[in-house]
Amino acid sequence: MELSRRVQRIQPSATLTINAKAGEMKSRGLDVISLAAGEPDFLPPDRVTDRAGKAVEGGHTRYTPVPGSPELRRAAANYFARFYGVQAEPENILVSNGGKQCLYNLCQALLDPGDEVLIPAPYWVSYPEMVRLADGEPVVLPTDPENDFLLQPEAIKEAVGPRTKALILNTPSNPTGCHYSQEQLDRVLEQALARDLYIISDEIYDQLVYPPARPASAAPWLASSPWRVAVVNGLSKSFALTGWRIGYVLAHEEIIQAMSKIQGQSTSNICTIAQEAAIAALEGSFDFLEHKRGMLSRRRDLALERISSWSGAVCPRPDGAFYLFPRLDAYYGGSVTDSTSMCTYLLEEAGVALVPGAAFGDDRCIRLSYALADEELDKALTRMGEALAKL
Ligand SMILES: Cc1ncc(COP(=O)(O)O)c(C=O)c1O
Repeated sequence: MELSRRVQRIQPSATLTINAKAGEMKSRGLDVISLAAGEPDFLPPDRVTDRAGKAVEGGHTRYTPVPGSPELRRAAANYFARFYGVQAEPENILVSNGGKQCLYNLCQALLDPGDEVLIPAPYWVSYPEMVRLADGEPVVLPTDPENDFLLQPEAIKEAVGPRTKALILNTPSNPTGCHYSQEQLDRVLEQALARDLYIISDEIYDQLVYPPARPASAAPWLASSPWRVAVVNGLSKSFALTGWRIGYVLAHEEIIQAMSKIQGQSTSNICTIAQEAAIAALEGSFDFLEHKRGMLSRRRDLALERISSWSGAVCPRPDGAFYLFPRLDAYYGGSVTDSTSMCTYLLEEAGVALVPGAAFGDDRCIRLSYALADEELDKALTRMGEALAKL
């Protein structure tokens, strides 16, 4: 049986693969600590789960309109007014199965075969594959830890060619945790919009930026460039609802309609019960996040302190999400020659599961998630330091 060329062109998700491997080792009784998770370790607020329970009891069990219930679309539109002062209408919102399906739908709606999409590296693992699934061509733009892995506006000028259609940005970033200030983001957007690029801004971690740093958004640019900006967000990370599959995208009404057409022929509306829970999340208080941000920034500091004692490591101090992306290539040599063999070594020698930087487009680094209890994090980093010292 010959599978399609499309499926043969893409890679499976590295993060999901590593998590499965660590889980399998744990189930064999091995002492493995996973720093590979891409999800928060806290619980959603009660009001969210309560509303889901009420939805079940109240018979919210039928189809809703494909782009989401009117109430949820309104709540998601209001999110942008509440946090970024952007007036949006429900017609500017599509609710999908996580930020992931929002991004997938965008690629399907915007790209024609051969269209190029600029993707700063390190990037979230799925961007290049989603572009490929839409028959587009990912064009990777490398960045450096010295610049907090942020795309420099000049890099756009050099990279744009006749087939360049879009730019995917992610702030704060998975895998680096680094974020753009509003000024930095605006400068990048100015360059990209001046070259008629379509901006896809993935802001799924925006609620996890640690004060005094503040999240930046491309949403305010929708007013002046309505045809050129889409902002992706969702409740997986901020409300710890990864399994509930709730994402939403803000864009021009006609782009929303185009994505809705695609979603209507593939998955239709997201789970009705999750939609009800999402309304409770978006319409209520976000104050509980203050505590979560405090907890995460403390863990970030703990992790950075350990990493600073590893003589060969370079790691920026990020202000968001829950990831660090240390550069460890100073340890390469012998049997550890790249980020994949480094992760294999650290899994076998230290019992710590990590994700190779190669999956994010930077083979010098590894990604670690600090969304786990302090003691476990501390133990894992101590064991990693000991293993690195043997190299
Ligand atoms: C940068 C980024 N964007 C999008 C997503 C998709 O999240 P979800 O589909 O759970 O909303 C993730 C999840 O790991 C992510 O890290």
